[in-house]
Amino acid sequence: MSGLTGKTYNIITFGCQMNEHDSETMAGLLQREGCFPAADRAEADIVIINTCSVRENADKRFFGTLGQLKKQKALRPGFIACVCGCMMQQEHMVTAVKQQYPWVDIVFGTHNIDDLPGMLEELLVNRRKQAGAESGAGLSGETTPLLSGRGYTLAKHEIRSAKDSRVIRLMDDRPVMPEGLPAKRLFRHKAFVNIMYGCNNFCSYCIVPYTRGREKSRRPEDILREVRNLTANGVREVTLLGQNVNSYRGGDWNFADLIHALDEIPGLDRIRFMTSHPKDLSDRLIASFAQCASLCHYIHLPVQAGSSRTLERMNRRYTREKYLDLVHRLRDAVPDITISTDIIVGFPGETEEDFEETLSLAEEVRYDSAFTFLYSKRKGTPAAEFPDQISEEDKHRRFDRLVACMNAISEEKNAAYAGRVEQVLVDGVSKKDSRVLNGRTDGFKLVDFPGDPSLIGKIVPVRITEGKTFSLRGALEP
Ligand code: 5AD
Ligand code: SF4
Repeated sequence: MSGLTGKTYNIITFGCQMNEHDSETMAGLLQREGCFPAADRAEADIVIINTCSVRENADKRFFGTLGQLKKQKALRPGFIACVCGCMMQQEHMVTAVKQQYPWVDIVFGTHNIDDLPGMLEELLVNRRKQAGAESGAGLSGETTPLLSGRGYTLAKHEIRSAKDSRVIRLMDDRPVMPEGLPAKRLFRHKAFVNIMYGCNNFCSYCIVPYTRGREKSRRPEDILREVRNLTANGVREVTLLGQNVNSYRGGDWNFADLIHALDEIPGLDRIRFMTSHPKDLSDRLIASFAQCASLCHYIHLPVQAGSSRTLERMNRRYTREKYLDLVHRLRDAVPDITISTDIIVGFPGETEEDFEETLSLAEEVRYDSAFTFLYSKRKGTPAAEFPDQISEEDKHRRFDRLVACMNAISEEKNAAYAGRVEQVLVDGVSKKDSRVLNGRTDGFKLVDFPGDPSLIGKIVPVRITEGKTFSLRGALEP
């Protein structure tokens, strides 16, 4: 039995699917130590905030949440507050947490997740030592190397005073990520599977290459083993995760090879992936949509901007024409493919003409859905230093125009689904109405329809009755 047995936990996750999955892994690690989820965050013994640093509003939300935890810490003496994730890979953020929130017990980065149980045990030992010292037992003032004997290099923050019980573990990068970690998944019937970590692309606005390190692909045999285990445990859909899955390289396997091998696994009905960088989308992958029965006809293909001039300054390494050509080739090969995207408005130097090109590209592609972002200055990225930053007023004006345009297209596209029968993998019961189920079509459209919760985890035919901006409504086909 470990010192953690019986403790309750709660994890607050900001950001992308990668972070969601890291949180599932942390939950799995804690449960393996005998911890269990708290019914209510306010009652939890351990709270972990898994942070995101992609845009500035994530920073603000993090500090707001951290402020709330302070009260909990004051009320419960044994309480453990942890912060981790992308934001902690930035030195100035770690300094801010250490100085302004000294009551945070554990700080760790994106490469130290597997150490979570060890860090918690160490904190408990430190607290016991401290309590002993305060009651007269020997207190040394020496410093302790926290990662001694672990086989990887000591980073900047890994030395602490013995008077301080805090545990801080950060690594700038890690060449090989650990395998075989448990995960407590959000759903029984679908799972995230990391196929690679990190990013080498250095888009000029993006912080991710600095927080997640260089690209490293998992070995195909490890991925296949994980997916076989998942399907043996009832998983029917996997989403393969990576910052740029198209540059997956496992030995001599590329991403399309991996998809073809996964397609052979019995019981695996659906394969999805995200995210795809347009510059690396291969013809072979495009052909795989038609060749692999379980590969869903859906792609998230971030364009970021519609003007080649902006794309070049973003360091995206494709032009508007090349992107549009990719979309045409995808649609030629897979006529029913649904396409979503990410778009940034107000990138430094974006002129009205550049922005008009983004609008016209969106009209031309007619995306099924889009995530639209206001450009956010990220310290340490090249674009943060560009001289021609756009005013907040212009950014917001362009953003509102783009969102209105995207929503109108989504609504029109969804309305055209009325009358069609879609195969829906049922995810759960609607939060608003317990008689309504929700799930996803092969093309990743969200569908609400009346039904019995016994259908959760099954793929069922649903006749679409109505298409709205962000979802479809339907009725079960007999
Ligand atoms: N500002 C605004 N949006 C950004 N993204 C990444 N970095 C920034 C930034 N600095 C967006 C991109 C990316 C998505 C995950 O977040 O569109 O595809
Ligand atoms: Fe960021 Fe570009 Fe890498 Fe995506 S591909 S994570 S936007 S640097």
